[in-house]
Amino acid sequence: MNLDFTNKVVLVTGASIGIGESTALLFAKLGAKLSLVGRNEANLGAVAAKCEKQKGVKPLAIVADLGTDEGVEKTAKQTLDHFKRLDVLVNNAAVGCRATILTTEDMKVFDDVFRIDVRGVYNLTRLLAPALVETKGNIVNISSIVGTAVSVGALPYGMAKAALDHFTRLVALELAPKGVRVNTVSPGLTETNFVKRITGISETKYQEWLEGGSTHIPMGQVCVGDDIARMVVFIASEHSRLVTGTNVVVDGGFQFTISSSDLDTRKNK
Ligand SMILES: NC(=O)c1ccc[n+]([C@@H]2O[C@H](COP(=O)([O-])OP(=O)(O)OC[C@H]3O[C@@H](n4cnc5c(N)ncnc54)[C@H](OP(=O)(O)O)[C@@H]3O)[C@@H](O)[C@H]2O)c1
Repeated sequence: MNLDFTNKVVLVTGASIGIGESTALLFAKLGAKLSLVGRNEANLGAVAAKCEKQKGVKPLAIVADLGTDEGVEKTAKQTLDHFKRLDVLVNNAAVGCRATILTTEDMKVFDDVFRIDVRGVYNLTRLLAPALVETKGNIVNISSIVGTAVSVGALPYGMAKAALDHFTRLVALELAPKGVRVNTVSPGLTETNFVKRITGISETKYQEWLEGGSTHIPMGQVCVGDDIARMVVFIASEHSRLVTGTNVVVDGGFQFTISSSDLDTRKNK
Protein backbone atom coordinates (compact mmCIF):
# COMPACT_ATOMS: atom_id res chain seq x y z
CA MET A 1 0.00 0.00 0.00
CA ASN A 2 1.46 3.28 -1.10
CA LEU A 3 0.46 6.41 0.78
CA ASP A 4 1.49 9.57 -1.01
CA PHE A 5 0.69 13.15 -0.03
CA THR A 6 2.94 14.90 -2.55
CA ASN A 7 1.44 18.30 -3.42
CA LYS A 8 -1.20 17.91 -0.70
CA VAL A 9 -1.39 20.65 1.93
CA VAL A 10 -1.97 19.30 5.44
CA LEU A 11 -2.62 21.44 8.54
CA VAL A 12 -1.85 19.76 11.88
CA THR A 13 -2.81 21.60 15.07
CA GLY A 14 -0.90 20.83 18.25
CA ALA A 15 2.06 19.78 16.13
CA SER A 16 4.72 21.00 18.57
CA ILE A 17 4.90 17.75 20.58
CA GLY A 18 3.22 14.40 21.17
CA ILE A 19 0.71 12.87 18.78
CA GLY A 20 0.66 16.02 16.63
CA GLU A 21 4.45 15.87 16.23
CA SER A 22 4.31 12.19 15.18
CA THR A 23 1.50 12.99 12.75
CA ALA A 24 3.39 15.93 11.23
CA LEU A 25 6.53 13.80 10.79
CA LEU A 26 4.65 11.00 9.09
CA PHE A 27 2.86 13.36 6.70
CA ALA A 28 6.26 14.95 5.94
CA LYS A 29 7.72 11.51 5.14
CA LEU A 30 4.82 11.01 2.75
CA GLY A 31 5.62 14.23 0.91
CA ALA A 32 2.96 16.60 2.31
CA LYS A 33 3.31 20.37 2.44
CA LEU A 34 2.67 21.15 6.08
CA SER A 35 1.14 23.93 8.09
CA LEU A 36 2.00 23.27 11.74
CA VAL A 37 0.40 24.99 14.72
CA GLY A 38 1.33 25.14 18.41
CA ARG A 39 1.99 27.61 21.21
CA ASN A 40 5.54 26.62 22.13
CA GLU A 41 7.67 28.33 19.48
CA ALA A 42 10.89 26.42 20.23
CA ASN A 43 9.20 23.01 20.11
CA LEU A 44 7.27 23.92 16.98
CA GLY A 45 10.44 25.12 15.25
CA ALA A 46 12.23 21.89 16.17
CA VAL A 47 9.38 19.77 14.76
CA ALA A 48 9.28 21.89 11.58
CA ALA A 49 13.04 21.36 11.12
CA LYS A 50 12.65 17.57 11.55
CA CYS A 51 9.81 17.57 9.01
CA GLU A 52 11.88 19.54 6.51
CA LYS A 53 14.64 16.92 6.76
CA GLN A 54 12.26 14.19 5.53
CA LYS A 55 11.73 15.37 1.94
CA GLY A 56 13.19 18.87 1.91
CA VAL A 57 9.77 20.55 2.05
CA LYS A 58 9.80 23.48 4.50
CA PRO A 59 6.67 23.55 6.69
CA LEU A 60 4.87 26.73 7.63
CA ALA A 61 5.12 27.01 11.42
CA ILE A 62 2.38 29.10 13.03
CA VAL A 63 2.66 30.04 16.69
CA ALA A 64 -0.93 30.55 17.81
CA ASP A 65 -3.26 29.92 20.73
CA LEU A 66 -6.24 28.07 19.29
CA GLY A 67 -8.20 28.94 22.41
CA THR A 68 -8.49 32.50 21.08
CA ASP A 69 -10.34 33.78 18.03
CA GLU A 70 -7.21 35.72 16.97
CA GLY A 71 -5.12 32.55 17.10
CA VAL A 72 -7.65 30.59 15.07
CA GLU A 73 -8.06 33.37 12.50
CA LYS A 74 -4.28 33.80 12.17
CA THR A 75 -3.90 30.03 11.61
CA ALA A 76 -6.53 29.90 8.88
CA LYS A 77 -5.34 33.08 7.15
CA GLN A 78 -1.62 32.30 7.18
CA THR A 79 -2.22 28.75 5.91
CA LEU A 80 -4.38 29.87 2.98
CA ASP A 81 -2.21 32.92 2.17
CA HIS A 82 0.89 30.72 2.08
CA PHE A 83 -0.35 27.59 0.29
CA LYS A 84 -3.50 28.89 -1.48
CA ARG A 85 -5.22 25.56 -0.76
CA LEU A 86 -5.88 22.97 1.93
CA ASP A 87 -6.34 19.23 1.49
CA VAL A 88 -6.34 17.85 5.04
CA LEU A 89 -7.16 19.46 8.39
CA VAL A 90 -6.05 17.52 11.48
CA ASN A 91 -7.70 19.00 14.58
CA ASN A 92 -5.37 17.53 17.19
CA ALA A 93 -4.59 20.33 19.70
CA ALA A 94 -6.31 19.91 23.05
CA VAL A 95 -5.87 20.28 26.77
CA GLY A 96 -7.03 17.89 29.47
CA CYS A 97 -7.97 18.50 33.08
CA ARG A 98 -8.68 16.90 36.42
CA ALA A 99 -12.19 17.71 37.60
CA THR A 100 -15.31 16.13 38.98
CA ILE A 101 -18.62 17.88 39.58
CA LEU A 102 -18.00 18.03 43.36
CA THR A 103 -14.44 19.35 43.03
CA THR A 104 -15.35 22.09 40.53
CA GLU A 105 -14.96 25.34 42.47
CA ASP A 106 -15.47 27.69 39.54
CA MET A 107 -15.94 27.49 35.77
CA LYS A 108 -12.35 28.25 34.71
CA VAL A 109 -11.27 24.70 33.94
CA PHE A 110 -14.52 23.94 32.11
CA ASP A 111 -14.21 27.15 30.08
CA ASP A 112 -10.54 26.52 29.21
CA VAL A 113 -11.19 22.96 28.05
CA PHE A 114 -14.24 23.87 25.98
CA ARG A 115 -12.57 26.99 24.55
CA ILE A 116 -9.63 25.00 23.20
CA ASP A 117 -11.00 21.48 22.63
CA VAL A 118 -14.41 22.40 21.21
CA ARG A 119 -14.73 26.10 20.32
CA GLY A 120 -11.26 26.26 18.74
CA VAL A 121 -11.98 23.20 16.59
CA TYR A 122 -15.40 24.51 15.55
CA ASN A 123 -14.01 27.93 14.66
CA LEU A 124 -10.98 26.66 12.72
CA THR A 125 -13.10 24.13 10.83
CA ARG A 126 -15.66 26.84 10.01
CA LEU A 127 -12.94 29.05 8.52
CA LEU A 128 -11.25 26.28 6.54
CA ALA A 129 -14.22 24.21 5.36
CA PRO A 130 -14.66 26.26 2.14
CA ALA A 131 -11.04 25.52 1.17
CA LEU A 132 -11.61 21.81 1.83
CA VAL A 133 -14.74 21.90 -0.34
CA GLU A 134 -12.62 23.30 -3.18
CA THR A 135 -10.09 20.45 -2.97
CA LYS A 136 -12.60 17.76 -1.89
CA GLY A 137 -10.30 17.33 1.07
CA ASN A 138 -10.92 15.85 4.47
CA ILE A 139 -10.84 16.47 8.22
CA VAL A 140 -9.49 14.20 10.96
CA ASN A 141 -10.49 15.15 14.50
CA ILE A 142 -8.44 13.67 17.33
CA SER A 143 -10.81 12.68 20.11
CA SER A 144 -10.28 10.13 22.91
CA ILE A 145 -11.73 6.88 24.16
CA VAL A 146 -13.14 8.93 27.05
CA GLY A 147 -15.46 10.66 24.58
CA THR A 148 -17.53 7.47 24.49
CA ALA A 149 -16.51 5.51 27.60
CA VAL A 150 -17.45 7.00 30.95
CA SER A 151 -14.29 7.59 32.96
CA VAL A 152 -14.53 9.58 36.18
CA GLY A 153 -11.96 12.29 36.94
CA ALA A 154 -11.87 14.59 33.90
CA LEU A 155 -15.49 15.61 33.51
CA PRO A 156 -15.17 18.64 31.17
CA TYR A 157 -12.59 16.82 29.01
CA GLY A 158 -14.83 13.76 28.54
CA MET A 159 -17.75 16.07 27.72
CA ALA A 160 -15.61 18.05 25.25
CA LYS A 161 -14.49 14.90 23.43
CA ALA A 162 -18.11 13.64 23.31
CA ALA A 163 -19.04 16.99 21.73
CA LEU A 164 -16.18 16.61 19.25
CA ASP A 165 -17.38 13.11 18.30
CA HIS A 166 -20.85 14.49 17.53
CA PHE A 167 -19.32 17.42 15.67
CA THR A 168 -17.60 14.87 13.42
CA ARG A 169 -20.85 13.00 12.74
CA LEU A 170 -22.81 16.18 11.97
CA VAL A 171 -20.19 17.93 9.85
CA ALA A 172 -19.55 14.68 7.96
CA LEU A 173 -23.23 14.62 6.96
CA GLU A 174 -23.19 18.32 6.03
CA LEU A 175 -20.07 18.05 3.88
CA ALA A 176 -20.55 14.63 2.28
CA PRO A 177 -22.53 16.06 -0.66
CA LYS A 178 -19.58 18.40 -1.29
CA GLY A 179 -17.13 15.48 -1.42
CA VAL A 180 -15.46 16.31 1.91
CA ARG A 181 -14.92 13.49 4.42
CA VAL A 182 -14.84 14.06 8.19
CA ASN A 183 -13.66 11.42 10.67
CA THR A 184 -12.47 10.97 14.22
CA VAL A 185 -9.47 9.04 15.46
CA SER A 186 -9.75 8.23 19.18
CA PRO A 187 -6.52 7.32 20.92
CA GLY A 188 -6.43 5.28 24.08
CA LEU A 189 -3.62 5.58 26.59
CA THR A 190 -0.75 7.13 24.61
CA GLU A 191 2.70 7.97 25.93
CA THR A 192 3.05 11.76 25.55
CA ASN A 193 3.31 14.79 27.85
CA PHE A 194 -0.49 15.11 28.04
CA VAL A 195 -1.03 13.52 31.46
CA LYS A 196 2.18 14.99 32.91
CA ARG A 197 0.95 18.46 31.94
CA ILE A 198 -2.32 17.93 33.79
CA THR A 199 -0.99 16.22 36.88
CA GLY A 200 2.55 17.56 37.11
CA ILE A 201 3.80 14.08 38.07
CA SER A 202 7.43 13.06 37.66
CA GLU A 203 8.62 10.87 34.78
CA THR A 204 9.05 7.95 37.21
CA LYS A 205 5.52 8.27 38.56
CA TYR A 206 4.22 8.66 35.01
CA GLN A 207 5.93 5.44 33.92
CA GLU A 208 4.37 3.65 36.94
CA TRP A 209 0.98 5.10 36.01
CA LEU A 210 1.39 3.92 32.40
CA GLU A 211 2.32 0.45 33.64
CA GLY A 212 -0.85 0.36 35.75
CA GLY A 213 -2.85 1.56 32.74
CA SER A 214 -1.38 -1.10 30.49
CA THR A 215 -3.00 -3.81 32.67
CA HIS A 216 -6.31 -2.63 31.16
CA ILE A 217 -4.98 -3.17 27.63
CA PRO A 218 -5.49 -6.66 26.18
CA MET A 219 -2.71 -6.02 23.63
CA GLY A 220 -0.44 -5.34 26.61
CA GLN A 221 1.05 -2.04 25.43
CA VAL A 222 0.18 1.63 25.66
CA CYS A 223 0.16 3.49 22.32
CA VAL A 224 2.93 5.76 21.12
CA GLY A 225 2.36 8.81 18.94
CA ASP A 226 3.19 6.93 15.77
CA ASP A 227 0.39 4.40 16.37
CA ILE A 228 -2.10 7.25 16.20
CA ALA A 229 -0.29 9.05 13.36
CA ARG A 230 -0.45 5.96 11.13
CA MET A 231 -4.22 5.76 11.52
CA VAL A 232 -4.57 9.50 10.87
CA VAL A 233 -2.68 9.34 7.57
CA PHE A 234 -4.58 6.23 6.50
CA ILE A 235 -7.94 7.90 7.22
CA ALA A 236 -6.77 11.08 5.46
CA SER A 237 -5.60 9.15 2.40
CA GLU A 238 -7.33 7.95 -0.75
CA HIS A 239 -7.34 4.45 0.76
CA SER A 240 -10.22 5.69 2.94
CA ARG A 241 -12.04 7.49 0.12
CA LEU A 242 -15.51 6.33 1.26
CA VAL A 243 -14.88 6.48 5.01
CA THR A 244 -16.75 9.37 6.61
CA GLY A 245 -18.54 10.21 9.86
CA THR A 246 -16.76 7.42 11.68
CA ASN A 247 -14.74 7.10 14.89
CA VAL A 248 -11.68 4.89 14.64
CA VAL A 249 -10.37 3.77 18.01
CA VAL A 250 -6.66 3.03 18.46
CA ASP A 251 -6.24 1.73 22.01
CA GLY A 252 -4.98 -1.86 22.05
CA GLY A 253 -8.48 -2.94 23.14
CA PHE A 254 -8.51 -0.84 26.37
CA GLN A 255 -11.06 -2.10 28.90
CA PHE A 256 -12.46 0.38 31.41
CA THR A 257 -13.21 -0.83 34.93
CA ILE A 258 -14.29 1.14 37.97
CA SER A 259 -11.05 2.00 39.77
CA SER A 260 -10.75 2.47 43.52
CA SER A 261 -10.15 6.20 42.96
CA ASP A 262 -13.39 6.33 40.96
CA LEU A 263 -15.17 4.70 43.86
CA ASP A 264 -13.64 7.20 46.30
CA THR A 265 -14.95 10.00 44.08
CA ARG A 266 -18.41 8.46 44.04
CA LYS A 267 -18.63 7.64 47.78
CA ASN A 268 -21.37 9.49 49.55
CA LYS A 269 -19.19 11.00 52.27
N1 LIG B 1 -1.95 11.12 25.33
C1 LIG B 1 -3.06 10.44 25.51
O1 LIG B 1 -3.09 9.46 26.30
C2 LIG B 1 -4.30 10.80 24.74
C3 LIG B 1 -5.38 9.91 24.82
C4 LIG B 1 -6.54 10.21 24.13
C5 LIG B 1 -6.61 11.34 23.35
N2 LIG B 1 -5.55 12.19 23.27
C6 LIG B 1 -5.70 13.37 22.41
O2 LIG B 1 -4.62 13.44 21.51
C7 LIG B 1 -4.39 14.81 21.14
C8 LIG B 1 -2.93 15.15 21.30
O3 LIG B 1 -2.58 14.98 22.65
P1 LIG B 1 -1.10 14.60 23.13
O4 LIG B 1 -1.21 13.41 23.96
O5 LIG B 1 -0.16 14.64 21.99
O6 LIG B 1 -0.87 15.84 24.11
P2 LIG B 1 0.37 16.86 24.32
O7 LIG B 1 1.65 16.12 24.23
O8 LIG B 1 0.03 17.59 25.55
O9 LIG B 1 0.24 17.82 23.06
C9 LIG B 1 -0.85 18.69 22.94
C10 LIG B 1 -0.63 19.60 21.76
O10 LIG B 1 -1.74 20.50 21.67
C11 LIG B 1 -1.21 21.83 21.61
N3 LIG B 1 -2.14 22.76 22.23
C12 LIG B 1 -2.77 22.67 23.40
N4 LIG B 1 -3.51 23.76 23.63
C13 LIG B 1 -3.33 24.58 22.57
C14 LIG B 1 -3.80 25.87 22.22
N5 LIG B 1 -4.60 26.56 23.03
N6 LIG B 1 -3.41 26.40 21.04
C15 LIG B 1 -2.57 25.73 20.22
N7 LIG B 1 -2.08 24.50 20.49
C16 LIG B 1 -2.45 23.95 21.66
C17 LIG B 1 0.11 21.77 22.37
O11 LIG B 1 0.90 22.86 21.94
P3 LIG B 1 2.00 23.58 22.88
O12 LIG B 1 2.70 22.48 23.65
O13 LIG B 1 2.89 24.23 21.86
O14 LIG B 1 1.26 24.51 23.75
C18 LIG B 1 0.64 20.43 21.88
O15 LIG B 1 1.24 20.57 20.64
C19 LIG B 1 -5.33 15.64 22.01
O16 LIG B 1 -6.49 15.94 21.26
C20 LIG B 1 -5.70 14.69 23.16
O17 LIG B 1 -6.96 14.99 23.69
C21 LIG B 1 -4.39 11.94 23.95
